[in-house]
Amino acid sequence: MRIRTFDDYQQAYQQSVEDPEAFWAGVAQEFQWRKPWTKTLQWNFTEPNIKWFVGGKLNITENCLDRHLAERGDQPAIIWEPNDPHEAGVTLTYRMLHDQVCRMANVLKRNGVGKGDRVCVYMPMVPELAIAVLACARIGAIHSVVFGGFSAQSIADRINDAQCRLVITADGAYRGNKEIPLKSVVDDALIGCPSVEKVIVMTRTRTPVAMLKGRDVWMEQELKQVTADCPAEEMDAEDVLFILYTSGSTGKPKGVVHTCGGYMVYAAYTFENVFQYEPGQVHFCTADIGWITGHSYIVYGPLACGATSLLFEGVPTYPDAGRFWDIVDKHQVNILYTAPTAIRSLMGFGLDKVENHDLSSLKVLGSVGEPINAEAWHWYDDHIGKNRCPIVDTWWQTETGGMLISPIAGVTKTKPTYATLPLPGVQPMLVDENGQEIEGNGVSGNLCMKFPWPGILRTTWGDHERCRQTYFSTYPGLYFTGDGCLRDEDGYYRITGRVDDVLNVSGHRIGTAEVENAINMHTGVVESAVVGYPHDIKGQGIYAYVIADAMPSDHDADLTKRDILATVSRVIGPIAKPDKIQFVSGLPKTRSGKIMRRILRKIAEGDTSNLGDTTTLLDPAVVDEIKAGAV
Ligand code: WT7
Repeated sequence: MRIRTFDDYQQAYQQSVEDPEAFWAGVAQEFQWRKPWTKTLQWNFTEPNIKWFVGGKLNITENCLDRHLAERGDQPAIIWEPNDPHEAGVTLTYRMLHDQVCRMANVLKRNGVGKGDRVCVYMPMVPELAIAVLACARIGAIHSVVFGGFSAQSIADRINDAQCRLVITADGAYRGNKEIPLKSVVDDALIGCPSVEKVIVMTRTRTPVAMLKGRDVWMEQELKQVTADCPAEEMDAEDVLFILYTSGSTGKPKGVVHTCGGYMVYAAYTFENVFQYEPGQVHFCTADIGWITGHSYIVYGPLACGATSLLFEGVPTYPDAGRFWDIVDKHQVNILYTAPTAIRSLMGFGLDKVENHDLSSLKVLGSVGEPINAEAWHWYDDHIGKNRCPIVDTWWQTETGGMLISPIAGVTKTKPTYATLPLPGVQPMLVDENGQEIEGNGVSGNLCMKFPWPGILRTTWGDHERCRQTYFSTYPGLYFTGDGCLRDEDGYYRITGRVDDVLNVSGHRIGTAEVENAINMHTGVVESAVVGYPHDIKGQGIYAYVIADAMPSDHDADLTKRDILATVSRVIGPIAKPDKIQFVSGLPKTRSGKIMRRILRKIAEGDTSNLGDTTTLLDPAVVDEIKAGAV
């Protein structure tokens, strides 16, 4: 299972392509199965129907917890660093984590949750969040974690889509110098969620909260009612482990479904190999557990490998921009996994925030979530890794469960801005618009996968047709990633960004259609079009063109913009707020009514010299007006 040299990588890769079933069976054997699988893989990309380790029985928490007790029960599983550096943190050993997960699992059972039920988790980055997730997995309940920055409306949409029976939340969350009233947001959401019977509330901020009789219970009190004895539910390899909602180019976010066996094997395999994790090392992934990065590389991957995972509640700039470096120093972090947007923002604060910290414990640096520009890559390499830590630029998606294209630390020769080579089991293919394969090197195209890996999504919750449409229909027989990609002369892959109407803002995935729908909900707005533009820190910023009932005067425009931002915050969450809003009298549409986003993108980028062919537009004059009014 463990790759140590480039030769090992090549051999593993070759075997994974020639005999994928034997390859993944070999990897999966290292885990604890209640019952072995009878067939390693069954698949087609047309329905699609993908099953790994068919007939195998397991529980992922036995692999993440019980399995480690004998050998490393007293080793830290989770190190928690609170938002406030002066507050005492928490270290949970594997034994303690096992105990707490079992107790929380019993609390869930006491509150009517059983195998297959959906549980929404809306929590701060505290150990109880990881515990809640694992407690669900322990009893076979399906978790749907919603990032703490989403609005009540977004929570309600997700709860209703999955028909969640229970919500786990906290009174509030600390994020930097802000306090977010989580329970109150949940209360707003639940006005429209009839499926929810119970809410478990943890105390964190001591913000006053309303507690509805019969519905809301305190986590602390519930925990007093249970024992730490909770045998794990036996799960089929293809039983659903979790749902995680993510944005696409159309409609509301969809619930990406991952299952127990394949996801576990893939998260663990990629964690151990890409980061070259050694026993005893401290791994610090700065993502929130509300995103797939947190699921795979804070919780499941590290714990399945018996690693020590650091969980940080706060933000990189609180109390100052040296916080990450402070944490690395304090906890002697060996692996740091963060996003380019964080690196770019910290770069701006200067080196004195870095230099007063001891970063010599670092061995491997990781990047994820968006393309990393050369400047950020070199800053990370020079000033954080001191040119002695390999950087792994890991490309993957919510749908892929784990990394697909990435260097293996210290094994794969890196190249700034390149995710480099596919991991074992991953078979990328570049295609042109017609779905023709683009062979050879020194080429670029749309990135697809031609063969399944164990962590691939199985469906989108409640709507399998949407899964087929979105990922498997653009290029029949292939999984389409939505990303553009370049393969250079060495066969190295560089992801160039989304080719669909999906934005990547500070590593957060946001659909333009979603933002448009939110803007259009504002009174007085007739129509809108949203595009991305390059942003120095966020990677992409959000630019909205808005048609109002009447073109607002300068004074009114400012007020209306403010109200539009408030509307977007309310409907989606603050992360989706446009950076720029321009009022326009019309949008460039073709005669068939399609908005020509290409033109809007160019104008938003500030590049109006060559807008390409505009002759098919219904009203070409509107382009000049938009150009003149660009903000
Ligand atoms: C999209 C997936 C995977 C965890 C976090 C994001 C972009 C992700 C990279 C990278 C260039 C990247 C892609 C992808 N992306 N990692 N290393 N280099 N682009 O997960 O929210 O599902 O977003 O993020 O565009 O499609 P996600």
